[in-house]
Amino acid sequence: MALYSEKVMDHFRNPRNVGVIENADGVGEVGNAKCGDIMKMYLKIDDDVITDVKFETFGCGSAIASSSMATELIKGKPVEEAMKLTNKAVAEALDGLPDYKMHCSVLAEEAIQAALEDYYKKNPQHK
Ligand code: FES
Repeated sequence: MALYSEKVMDHFRNPRNVGVIENADGVGEVGNAKCGDIMKMYLKIDDDVITDVKFETFGCGSAIASSSMATELIKGKPVEEAMKLTNKAVAEALDGLPDYKMHCSVLAEEAIQAALEDYYKKNPQHK
């Protein structure tokens, strides 16, 4: 059995939504101290709906694939729903990750939550 699913390879080779959003409504950056990988998420939010999302990941292939899939999962979704996105859901959407690579999907969950917290901080009336 291949170590990585087709979907992981696809999102690693052709990551969706890579880049930066200028004047983003929420920005979150997280890292994993063990492997040193870093992920940054940018959110554009209108009326509590995520209208655009971009990411920059300085990290392993699974981290890139996880951030790419995570952006697809939250794009067009209400912030409340995005807040509930778990790393498990990201890994499942990728048709699985090897156990020792699950922490890479955790970075995606944490980066999105950090970006949403940043948004709530800037827009306390939306909490
Ligand atoms: Fe650290 Fe993948 S090895 S995020």
